[in-house]
Amino acid sequence: MSASQDTVYQATCTAPVNIAVVKYWGKRDTSLILPTNSSLSVTLSQDHLRSLTTARCITSSTSTSTSPRDRLWLNGDEEDINEGGRTARCLAEMRSLRQKIEADNSSLPKLSSHPLHIASENNFPTAAGLASSASGLSALIATLARLYDLEAHGVSQSDLSRIARQGSGSACRSMFGGYVAWEQGERADGADSVAVEVAPASHWPDLHALILVVSDKKKGTPSTAGMQRTVATSALLQHRIKHVVPERMDRISRAIRERDFDQFALETMADSNQFHAVCLDTVPPIFYLNDVSRAVIQLVTELNRASGRAVAAYTYDAGPNAVLYVQEKDVKLVLDVVLQYFPQSAASFPDPFATGVAPTGSKERV
Ligand code: DP6
Repeated sequence: MSASQDTVYQATCTAPVNIAVVKYWGKRDTSLILPTNSSLSVTLSQDHLRSLTTARCITSSTSTSTSPRDRLWLNGDEEDINEGGRTARCLAEMRSLRQKIEADNSSLPKLSSHPLHIASENNFPTAAGLASSASGLSALIATLARLYDLEAHGVSQSDLSRIARQGSGSACRSMFGGYVAWEQGERADGADSVAVEVAPASHWPDLHALILVVSDKKKGTPSTAGMQRTVATSALLQHRIKHVVPERMDRISRAIRERDFDQFALETMADSNQFHAVCLDTVPPIFYLNDVSRAVIQLVTELNRASGRAVAAYTYDAGPNAVLYVQEKDVKLVLDVVLQYFPQSAASFPDPFATGVAPTGSKERV
């Protein structure tokens, strides 16, 4: 505490990336971020890919700011918080939850009426199709929840996930660890469009995700714009929404519950293929895969065929980088084969890592 009686409250959290095996692509409500189909993802371990966010709020005994100006730094550079934009909406939702708690507990510091300073960094390429918005928004919500002490006052992880969804759809899944479904819901207010845990990470600990960084450049077509172009122009998307995803969600959930890797791999690769087919069906078409991505698909297909079983399952988000799901017993085999066909220095190749848990962090009063 300084001489001017300012008190700094600060919280820090990390949140993991999640990689979808049934892809979210398309919104029926762009403002609340309500999807056109349910999706399912695996939350990765925070040891490798994660966002780290610190939020700080300074209260002063002499003045109370009535129109706080929040500030945000992403990977060291200050970003605008656009009025009415997604980040602003998330901050407003979090502040309003804190306000209600303060109204009921007059002894609590009035954090909700002071500006927030937020700094976030990713330890992996941002916007390169490695789900940086999922971990980033999830870390933001987890950090503010900690700063505002929301969970101690009855705000649930589902409530927080609903708010994270309004920052970036896929972020709602990163609020949970393990295997997570985002149920599309039916209600217009989005109350039933929530992420739910299908199984904890501990349920299937020998499932690993290998990230093959094909390119760390920012993607050409951001997901938000790309998916709405698909909604507006692709007939294949309508088929996918109605006739493919509902059954696939059931089958892949069952495969996870039964730890059936063959079925899990089949559905994962089919869904990745269909997602990229839907992108190609968009007018004008969207290309996320490049020649190296396609070569990885061929390699995995050939490896699985030659092995007479599923050894690896590939999936690609909105970028050329491959994620391979592999069982522990096959990690060495897959790494050897990948390195044989795509030789590189060992140092530049990330370690394999297991599935992980939900956001973690700390809170302190400085
Ligand atoms: C291909 O969640 O980044 O990774 O809701 O517009 O922020 P917005 O989109 P975002 O889209 C992710 C798309 C995807 C598939 C997935 O993660 O399910």
